[in-house]
Amino acid sequence: MYKLAIVGFGVVGQGLAEILLEHRERLKKEHGFEYSVVAVSDFVKGAAYDPKGLDLAKLLALAKENGISQYPGAKTGWNAIDTIVKSNADVVVEATYTDIKTAEPAYSHFKAALNSGKHLVTTNKGPTALFFREVAALAKSKKVQFRYEGTVMSGTPALNLVALCLAGNEIREIRGIVNGTTNFILTNMEKRKSYADALKEAQDLGFAEAVPDADVEGFDAMAKVVILAKAVMGADLKVADVDRTGITRITLDDINNAKAEGKRWKLIGRVAREGGAVRASVRPEKLDVADPLAGVGGATNALTFSTDLIRNVTIIGPGAGKIETGYSILVDLLAINRTAPAARPAAPKKPAPKKTAKKAAKRMKKIRKRAKKAGR
Ligand SMILES: NC(=O)c1ccc[n+]([C@@H]2O[C@H](COP(=O)([O-])OP(=O)(O)OC[C@H]3O[C@@H](n4cnc5c(N)ncnc54)[C@H](OP(=O)(O)O)[C@@H]3O)[C@@H](O)[C@H]2O)c1
Repeated sequence: MYKLAIVGFGVVGQGLAEILLEHRERLKKEHGFEYSVVAVSDFVKGAAYDPKGLDLAKLLALAKENGISQYPGAKTGWNAIDTIVKSNADVVVEATYTDIKTAEPAYSHFKAALNSGKHLVTTNKGPTALFFREVAALAKSKKVQFRYEGTVMSGTPALNLVALCLAGNEIREIRGIVNGTTNFILTNMEKRKSYADALKEAQDLGFAEAVPDADVEGFDAMAKVVILAKAVMGADLKVADVDRTGITRITLDDINNAKAEGKRWKLIGRVAREGGAVRASVRPEKLDVADPLAGVGGATNALTFSTDLIRNVTIIGPGAGKIETGYSILVDLLAINRTAPAARPAAPKKPAPKKTAKKAAKRMKKIRKRAKKAGR
């Protein structure tokens, strides 16, 4: 039975809670995965801790009213660090906001979790991109796991695909669409909308933030590219090493001219091994329509892995979303369950084995024989 602490109970934290609540029985039956959410801590929605476990339906309802701290009978008022360090959780799920410049407060949460000997599962790109090596080394030294599938392409299996299914290949290049908002905007511009109108529509639909720079200037894609470079290619790459250009200068004319040439503009993140080094970039590229990435429209993400043994493998799937990203945490939890099983409650002591029927019959035969001999 895993005891989970969820730090950051926004879209992703609640997505995970909904999945866990709805699929408890199937996860137990098909994967032997049993869990108890013992703590939740969120900046505004509140915090609650019960070492015996919290009711997820109640938590989700209270979160809607920013009332988690009203959870009846629970310890309340703990901040994220208290929750991580003082709770009896054995896995910390970190889903607070991403800060790609400082990585805080999430980096402190990461270190607190690992230093307390707890497994860490995250969707947070900030500390994963900036401090990947440090976090991975700390997890190793504490003999716990650091898992981060949801940091690239949300629940679409990009990182686990490389680690498991492409194992044994040398990954020579990874290129693709790792930011759904910019792909949505570019796809909409193909319908003759200006950049400003396409951005506004993305904002109205909740794909883009009011201040859209993280997406449209390529910072979000840059963080993902750095994670791929570090986690897949073992590169010691800094965010400043990424040659980054966003989509803000792409005009309707550019889109139409590309169309006339049988091409499409996409914001492409790329990591490649070149002459003993790993180079990374994020920039708009004009792709031939025959390129599998050119056909990926809307907010969908895609990555092509170029390998030495099986050449090119392209995956296409969601790169964001409540359930999609919550799923990325689930898949990491299942991986921990497979590779570092949680301590099971001690099984009740078995009574001393009874003598078998055969042994008992043999003994009776001996007794009767002795009695007969003695004339009894
Ligand atoms: N949403 C997606 O589709 C997606 C996909 C891939 C990766 N991610 C990443 O996953 C993480 C979570 O995303 P999200 O969409 O769930 O964001 P979100 O809805 O903004 O949720 C983040 C939550 O963290 C809380 N928080 C912030 N600082 C905190 C602290 N110090 N202690 C405790 N709670 C704190 C926030 O609290 P208040 O708002 O209550 O103040 C908020 O509820 C981000 O790092 C994001 O980049 C998201």
